[in-house]
Amino acid sequence: MSSLNIKRVAVLGAGTMGHGIAEVFAIAGFEVNLMDISDDILRNALNRIRDSLERLSKRGKLRDSVDSVLSRIHTTTKVAEAVKNIDFLVEAVPENADLKKSMFREADQYAPSHAIFASNTSTIPITELSEATSRRERFLGLHFMNPPPLMKLVEITRGRYTSDETVNITVQLTRILNKEPVVVNKDVPGFIVNRVLFRVMLEACREVVQEGIKIIDLDAMARNVLGLPMGPFELLDYIGLDTSLFIVKAMTERGFKAHPCPLLEELVSKGKLGVKSGEGFYKYP
Ligand code: CAA
Repeated sequence: MSSLNIKRVAVLGAGTMGHGIAEVFAIAGFEVNLMDISDDILRNALNRIRDSLERLSKRGKLRDSVDSVLSRIHTTTKVAEAVKNIDFLVEAVPENADLKKSMFREADQYAPSHAIFASNTSTIPITELSEATSRRERFLGLHFMNPPPLMKLVEITRGRYTSDETVNITVQLTRILNKEPVVVNKDVPGFIVNRVLFRVMLEACREVVQEGIKIIDLDAMARNVLGLPMGPFELLDYIGLDTSLFIVKAMTERGFKAHPCPLLEELVSKGKLGVKSGEGFYKYP
């Protein structure tokens, strides 16, 4: 199989990442089966995709009409239906290893045997997830960055059993999606992006806590001196503070060493989760 034979893709999970990943595939012309556990979640996902497509269209960044892109996205609440007749699958359910494995186990029963399975996990080892399926050589990590329609980089991670052919097909596929793939050959916690990104963000947190530097000043430095699109605290709010804390914990449990960020834990315990809850390090109207 080459990536040119891939026509239909399943995206399992229609949340923060899943809806954006489905959008990216549909923009590139693929038929997409988008699955989540309730019709409400799926309706909300389609609204978010429409909103994003309209923004892209307004800026002349969409080749097709918004409606024709949307017509390629088919929603369902059933895994069996989502994966029948697919050539490629991206799993983007919450970062819980048992949940992901049970989704993969079920999908593995119903998906055609040639279909490649990919996980959008940011922290869970690919080898461990692949062992829940009977297609370990056709299994890898495919990690999109938020927001998927705008961010070019994708991490492609090999598990212990991933074949070269699977990696090559996926690299070609991501180029069709107009992304810039980086292949991660070592299945380490956090792959490349989160190991480095979170070291930067946790170091920024340490400066604030220990040295009393203002959050707003640190973010201004990061934007104006380091040239980052967002400062560390703006980005933590954007990723979601609960998600960020989860990523740090998941990497730390697997041997990653970094300074803890007590500010992150404090905000999450107060329900301040960043942009999505209206307040994190900053307030959002
Ligand atoms: N879909 C379509 N268009 C969008 C959009 C979306 N989801 N989000 C923003 N836009 C559009 C806006 O409408 C805006 O268009 P106009 O100029 O026509 O109004 C344009 O993009 C620019 O947006 P903004 O003015 O709101 O903000 P911006 O210029 O700062 O760009 C950004 C937004 C691309 C998110 C940019 O701030 C950025 O690159 N931030 C860093 C994001 C990042 O690092 N992501 C990776 C996080 S790590 C991760 O995801 C991995 C993990 O495991 C945690």
